[in-house]
Amino acid sequence: MLKDNVINAFNLQFGTYPEFVVRAPGRVNLIGEHTDYNDGFVFPMAIDRAVWIALKPSDSQIVSVHSLDFAESIRFNLDSIEHTDKKWGEYIKGVAWSLMQNGYPLRGWEGFVSGDVPLGAGLSSSAALELATARAFSAVSRFPWNPSQMAQICQAAENQWVGVNCGIMDQLISAVGIKDHAVLIDCRSLEFQPFPLPPDTTIVVLDTSTRRGLVDSAYNERRQQCETAADFFGVGALRDVTLQNFEQNAGGLDPVVQRRARHIITENIRTVNASEAMKAGNPQVLGELMNQSHESLKNDFEVSSAALNDIVNSARKQPGCYGSRMTGAGFGGCAIALVQTPVVEEFTQSVCSDYHQTTGLTPIVYLCQASDGASLEKTTEPE
Ligand code: GLA
Repeated sequence: MLKDNVINAFNLQFGTYPEFVVRAPGRVNLIGEHTDYNDGFVFPMAIDRAVWIALKPSDSQIVSVHSLDFAESIRFNLDSIEHTDKKWGEYIKGVAWSLMQNGYPLRGWEGFVSGDVPLGAGLSSSAALELATARAFSAVSRFPWNPSQMAQICQAAENQWVGVNCGIMDQLISAVGIKDHAVLIDCRSLEFQPFPLPPDTTIVVLDTSTRRGLVDSAYNERRQQCETAADFFGVGALRDVTLQNFEQNAGGLDPVVQRRARHIITENIRTVNASEAMKAGNPQVLGELMNQSHESLKNDFEVSSAALNDIVNSARKQPGCYGSRMTGAGFGGCAIALVQTPVVEEFTQSVCSDYHQTTGLTPIVYLCQASDGASLEKTTEPE
């Protein structure tokens, strides 16, 4: 559908079919929150909501892109990229800038972009746009597609061009996602391993319909606190602190920093245990780990919110729900629940009415399938 939209818009403008169509997905994280920038483990899946671009190479160094969603265009010269105020365009420029910083010779292109990853919901619409852009440049500039490397280049674009100090999770899963699987990622080595969800279970994404400002400053503060704790333990990252070491020595830490570190250290353990539960096909254990993750994010890392806690509580009350937790950076956005597939519909209805009764807010529910990472499709003209 979105694919058709970008192709049709392209066709209308240029009177031909695009030479390339690229796609990169958003993501949802099952467990392993705020662990990526501590060199730890995360367990996301790429979802079947994505950013699509239909494009053709241009003969110059000009990149011009029209967004169907924002009904506006950007145009810039690869030889002199500058910041402007169109937020979505900064992701595209940032990726171009980052690719060139890493020595990729780029060529200009013209295209149309559209996506169905909800914005600001914590499902990584920006990583999807970044990876789709990198995929587009790889196609027109004819350099080989190396998913992990491209994820790192896109992360650098977000850190250094856009100015958001995120970890590697969102870009990496958008690059390496695997259909029908969640992917356990070691954020230090960038090694990853796919696991199917336990049989007859579905991940239901529950959007609280709340968005919080100040996420960036709270996020940066958490990063800082984690670094303080790592320094205290004399390690490069909290990934290297065992629970035993923490329990024996954490008394010397400031109490807030101590709680932040406890979340990271226990969350890494839960995330690896979650992969064991997945391997064993055990939804009870996986759900319980998700519940514990939420409590830790709420009490120790303090990145949940009243709305997230309410929706998680509504979810946990329902029959057929194995576990529920907030997902993503926090403070608003989405929670997830692991639910028995046959009761998903009843589950969804009950959570929606319960959450509405408690908060007066109307949640949005996304039933997501795990999808493949960023891809290139050459289009064929109809007969
Ligand atoms: C955001 C960041 C990720 C990660 C999560 C929290 O999504 O972009 O790198 O840190 O928050 O797990």
